[in-house]
Amino acid sequence: MPEGALAQPYQQHCQMCHGRGVAGAPRVGSAEAWASRATQGLATLTAHVVQGIAPAMPARGGCLRCDDATLEALVAWMIEASLPTEQRSKEEG
Ligand code: HEC
Repeated sequence: MPEGALAQPYQQHCQMCHGRGVAGAPRVGSAEAWASRATQGLATLTAHVVQGIAPAMPARGGCLRCDDATLEALVAWMIEASLPTEQRSKEEG
């Protein structure tokens, strides 16, 4: 679970799919699921979240009140929680 302001939107909007890897969603905690996706870099991943990925990933991950910075922080946290440091994209810092 991410801390602070991210906990609530994660719990309410992302966890139902990404917590367990429902319907092909990359599961948080699975390095295997995230390794190839993370190579796209944080900006591209976040753009995909904003647009959604048909058919199963809703636009903005379903969190319509989340601004882009919040979505980016959620994506960064998902990667952090899933991949060892050396496999994270440089863009994540
Ligand atoms: C209804 C289920 C569902 C919800 C809710 C959901 N996702 Fe997803 N997400 C998916 C699925 C399925 C995929 C894989 C789509 C694909 O690659 O075809 C995905 C993919 C992603 C990816 C990878 C994008 C890429 O370019 O590879 C990220 C990042 C992501 N979701 C973040 C989030 C965030 C952040 C939230 C909450 C704000 C969220 N998702 C909510 C189902 C969901």
